[in-house]
Amino acid sequence: MREQLILGIELSCDETAASIIRHGARGEILSSVIYSQIDEHAPYGGVVPEIAARSHLALMSTVVERAMNEASLGFDQLTGVAATAGPGLIGGVMVGLTTGKAIALAYDLPFLPVNHLEAHALTVRLNEDIAFPYMLLLVSGGHCQILWVKGLGEYRILGQTRDDAVGEAFDKAAKFLGLPYPGGPEIERHAAQGDGRRLVLPKPLYGTPGCDFSFSGLKTALQVQAQELAPATPQDIADLCASLQVSIIDCLVDRVSRALELLREEGETVTDFVVAGGVAANQKLRSRLATSASDYHVRFHVAPMELCTDNAAMIAWTGCEYMRANLWPDRDLALATAPRARWPLAS
Ligand code: KG4
Ligand code: ZN
Repeated sequence: MREQLILGIELSCDETAASIIRHGARGEILSSVIYSQIDEHAPYGGVVPEIAARSHLALMSTVVERAMNEASLGFDQLTGVAATAGPGLIGGVMVGLTTGKAIALAYDLPFLPVNHLEAHALTVRLNEDIAFPYMLLLVSGGHCQILWVKGLGEYRILGQTRDDAVGEAFDKAAKFLGLPYPGGPEIERHAAQGDGRRLVLPKPLYGTPGCDFSFSGLKTALQVQAQELAPATPQDIADLCASLQVSIIDCLVDRVSRALELLREEGETVTDFVVAGGVAANQKLRSRLATSASDYHVRFHVAPMELCTDNAAMIAWTGCEYMRANLWPDRDLALATAPRARWPLAS
């Protein structure tokens, strides 16, 4: 395969991101520009779709230009453009998809509409030689699912959240406790000073059949405990954070173990387990998952943090994967792709 230079564009949530990957024998990130809108959303304790869409529109061209400059490339040197077509907040997806299509049209390049979840699922292969199939836990502000990654475009959902995503649960709990957005890192920081056994919170779906998650009841239980303690002292807050973290991690580890067992029961050979998404930054979660993987004699992988959270290198990398497999779609068909707010990887 001749060397590829793929531009990736990602705007599905609150990051405006563009990246270029050169792919010869291996993938190499030439640039990865990420503008995070966290400061704009922080006063509201969560992402405000209208603000996100307007901000993407204002930043898009600068971010793409910076990615091209950092890679020292002109648009005419690219060999393809890949952009997130969903799932995500529709305003941002529309801006990113349209920008990608416009560049592809202007420079007569092939175009790939990318599923954001598939990009998360494949990213680990950018830096490590992990062969299909592998099991993936995707934990972020918008997603919480366990996938069996069989190959490009071949995914099986083993379990998913029935209500809130796990990062969303951290963020909502933090907001309720008066901690800043994003809540996950704040909860982890306060939990380090707290006692996770003092206040007992539920562990929804823990130990039940199947591999699904549920976090909305946990959030409500935390509110009840916090109200009983009002006015909460700093130690109460730390203890609440520690209890929340214990419950969430116990649930995640339980569901992952269940999924590993399920695959084994079905006769699959599971050799590798990957965790991705912003919540993978949580150190306690990582170490518990690593222990679980070793208990099941499975290799444990976490992509580097800058690739775990939303970024455009994962979109460009998905383009490289599809290019390598000769699976880029017909250009006219790709250019006709509509943005999608919902786009499950599999049913
Ligand atoms: O992948 P990501 O950057 O964006 C989404 O696609 O959502 O994930 C962001 C989520 C937020 O909900 C944030 O609170 C959570 O990841 N998060 C954490 C930690 N760092 C980020 N959750 C728990 N512990 C952390 N250390
Ligand atoms: Zn994501």
